[in-house]
Formats: sequence, C-alpha cells, structure tokens
Amino acid sequence: MRNSQPSGERYDRSYFDRWYRDPKTRVKSGIAIRRKAALALSMAEYYLEHPVHTVLDVGCGEGNWLSALRSLRPKIRYTGVDASTYAVERFGKKRNIRLGTFASLEEIGLKEDYDLIVCSDTLFYLPLGELEQGIASLASRAAGVAFLELYTGEDSLIGDFPNEGLQSASFYRKLLTRNGFLSVGSHCYLGPDMAERAMQMEQT
Ligand SMILES: C[S@@+](CC[C@H](N)C(=O)[O-])C[C@H]1O[C@@H](n2cnc3c(N)ncnc32)[C@H](O)[C@@H]1O
Repeated sequence: MRNSQPSGERYDRSYFDRWYRDPKTRVKSGIAIRRKAALALSMAEYYLEHPVHTVLDVGCGEGNWLSALRSLRPKIRYTGVDASTYAVERFGKKRNIRLGTFASLEEIGLKEDYDLIVCSDTLFYLPLGELEQGIASLASRAAGVAFLELYTGEDSLIGDFPNEGLQSASFYRKLLTRNGFLSVGSHCYLGPDMAERAMQMEQT
C-alpha cells in the first residue's frame, strides 16, 4: 500500500474516502477522535493548570481533530499542518490547515509554542531523518503536552503501514527522550520545559 509517490499526492481524496468514509474500509470514526481529543485536552490542562488555548496538529489530514476539539473547547485556536495538497486545497482555509511537512516546520511561520501538540496516526509513516527533524521542531514548540501517537512493530494493527516496517518501542522511546519529551502515558508527553512537573509515579 505504501509506494514511492510523494506524500502530498498519495494522500488524495480517494485515500481519505477509503480510510475515513467508506463503511466497508474505514478505520476511523469521529467518536474515536473525540475520545482521543478529550484525553489530550485533559492531560494538557492538568499539567498546564489552565485551559488549552492553542493547538498545533501536524499530519492533521482533513483536520478532523478540529471539530472534536471545538466541541469540547469552543474557543480553541487550531493550526493544522499537512503534506496533502488535496486536504489543504479542500479544507485549508476553513480549518486553518497549512501545507507543510515535518521537515519544513521551521519554514512555515508557526508560532513559538503551543499548549497542545497533536500528531495522530502519522509519525510512524515518516522516513527516519524527517521523523528526527520533526520531533526536534515539535519539542521546541511544546509548551504543555504533546499527543504523539506512535505504533510499533510489537503492536497488533489493522490499516495502512509503511513497507519498511514499524520501529520498536525502544527506538521511539530513545528518540523522544533525546529530545526532552517525558512520557506520562497513553501517547501523551510533557514538553522539555514541563517535564519537571511530573511526579515520579506519573511517568511511564
Ligand atoms: C493516517 S492520516 C492521519 C490524519 C489525522 N492526523 C488523523 O488522525 O485522522 C496520515 C496523514 O499524515 C500526512 N502526512 C504524511 N506524510 C507527511 C509528512 N511528511 N509531513 C506532514 N504530513 C504528512 C498525510 O497527508 C495524512 O494526512
């Protein structure tokens, strides 16, 4: 399923129809995204000790997290970034989604920091060089919590995965720790400046 097309072309309308809309093949639902959004918001607000105001969602696709987040926090300021020209042409203006990749986060005029960073169902698709670069850019912008959803070769999964295979949990743990992220469970990580807020038994 993974091929050599640039990601901007591969993630076209038919990709989103297949995995998000067609009842026979879809693996995503609005309810599941809302649950993840509720988890990420609660975790961020617990550590920040104030409501989440700003969210950066990288690899946001069609920006499905926006409606989930707004249903829970109507005033949230959302910025999405995605490599899909289809998604940005269709939803960019309406949902504040910019065209960009994990490798170009320093070049697309993002803010210095965000209360909540989201990378849902995206990071494990990236070439490793781009993953390293992206994680470093996100670490420097993580004022609160980052929801970094990562699947590993040790997980049992259904869906669309890279041909080159998934990395191990220990690979991802080392990468995130090297960049100052601290795991507090369920795909949630404190950014480097927040890490000291977690008590020993909150860390995983
Ligand atoms: C499985 S979809 C996930 C979309 C959304 N985050 C969600 O949870 O529904 C993967 C997304 O990653 C984006 N993507 C793939 N490679 C990327 C890259 N190098 N930089 C930014 N986005 C990328 C694709 O365009 C696609 O929208």
